[in-house]
Amino acid sequence: MDKASIVVDPAFKIGDIDPRIRGSFVEHLGRCVYGGIYEPDHPSADEDGFRTDVLELTRELGVTAVRYPGGNFVSGYNWEDGIGPKADRPRRLELAWKTLETNQVGVDEFAAWCRKAATEPIMAVNLGTRGVAEAAELVEYCNHPAGSYWSDQRVRNGAKDPHGVRLWCLGNEMDGQWQIGHKTAREYGLLAAETAKAMRMVDPSLELVACGSSHRRMPTFASWEAEVLEHTYDVVDYVSLHSYYAPRNGDVASFLASGVDMDEMIEAVVASCDYARAKLGRSKRIDLSYDEWNVWYSGGSWQDTVDPWTEAPPILQDEYSVMDAVVVGSLLNSLLRHADRVKIACFAQLVNVIAPMTTENGGPAWRQSSYHPMALAFAHGVGAALRVEPVSPLVSTPLYGDVPQLDATVTYDESSGAVAVFAVNRSLTEPLVLSADLRSLPSARVVEHVALFDSDRDAINTKDAPDRVVPRTQPAPSLADGRLEAELPPLSWSLIRLTTT
Ligand code: AHR
Repeated sequence: MDKASIVVDPAFKIGDIDPRIRGSFVEHLGRCVYGGIYEPDHPSADEDGFRTDVLELTRELGVTAVRYPGGNFVSGYNWEDGIGPKADRPRRLELAWKTLETNQVGVDEFAAWCRKAATEPIMAVNLGTRGVAEAAELVEYCNHPAGSYWSDQRVRNGAKDPHGVRLWCLGNEMDGQWQIGHKTAREYGLLAAETAKAMRMVDPSLELVACGSSHRRMPTFASWEAEVLEHTYDVVDYVSLHSYYAPRNGDVASFLASGVDMDEMIEAVVASCDYARAKLGRSKRIDLSYDEWNVWYSGGSWQDTVDPWTEAPPILQDEYSVMDAVVVGSLLNSLLRHADRVKIACFAQLVNVIAPMTTENGGPAWRQSSYHPMALAFAHGVGAALRVEPVSPLVSTPLYGDVPQLDATVTYDESSGAVAVFAVNRSLTEPLVLSADLRSLPSARVVEHVALFDSDRDAINTKDAPDRVVPRTQPAPSLADGRLEAELPPLSWSLIRLTTT
């Protein structure tokens, strides 16, 4: 059997893992909000109309921060439509997704939902059709204690305490031609800088994210970041990245290596940020917000699937297989191994829309296959990420050339002594023995090995079989003389937990 090896040593620390790397995204899109987090007629709905089954799954998943309200949606959104008495809120033609937006959920409902979900709100402002004033007013509405026009409106609307939203995205994917109010890098950079200044005048404690390229294949990738940062470097804290993956033209090998693409994307954007820093001669460092990432199949076809201007249409409802869950596990590895620079990451989206959870209107909610690597990585990928350099057989891919068969990341929480080894075997057919040198952690003992794999790589979870794809406990890996050995099944994602206490 093929073998791959890593060395686990707490001295090789990459960086502390920011809890906000375990974030998600709720957009007014399809059934993410209506029928997802909010469904007042649902048997599980609470007094505010939120589905408690979805709240429970969200808490169980361990989502630390949720970005809202978009996405493409935000670029045409009037946030004022979503406040005040629900009966008075306008029904709007929503241009990004060609739906009818009822505005029954707005910023106050979202903030209340976040409190119930025990998660931090992240807000995006509209820099497509709107600008500086509306963004500053939204900050005033959310964060100013009281005694001003907008903060008093919030109090009158029932939210006595400020929502305290710290992290804000300055628009969404503004380089994209599809975006309402799309802009050139110069136009966007100038607008984002002025908006940032005004928002910080209202609340100096804000953290701000500038839009990076909407994806790596944009013709302006890197030049966009360079120009935007020239205008915004001093007033923002993060640059955003977005990536979605699917097998193109049946190329499963490259799909399984999506983490390689994510690694390269992160390293390229880090280089852009550090280039701007050197060019401008600043000491401040700009970090990364990977505020949209996932596997996504239905991207190009959604317009064919529904009539326009319907409320909460069932669009972008991807179903995730075993193979997709393994890729999601690999993307989580990429995020963790860049813990020194990726401080925020939001898988897109939380429920029903390209999401790890699915609901039926009036019916149950269930976990998709991808829920499981996320929940386990969020629970156990804590503390610091450690540098491991796998020595591994290679697999060949059309898009990325030869890539290691083993994709591994290790985290170590010094305070609890917990060590987590996250390992993906990218081979469709061959098992792999993972050998880990643990001599630098002499007191380490194995807690468990769980793995997600299946003889049917296309197996999915459904309403009737919600636990068809779940991680399974594996035989305990051997550990002797500081060397651990574990078997990784073909096409699998594994978590091997150890403790040093
Ligand atoms: O998450 C779906 C969409 O993908 C978002 O609205 C947009 O930002 C991205 O292109």
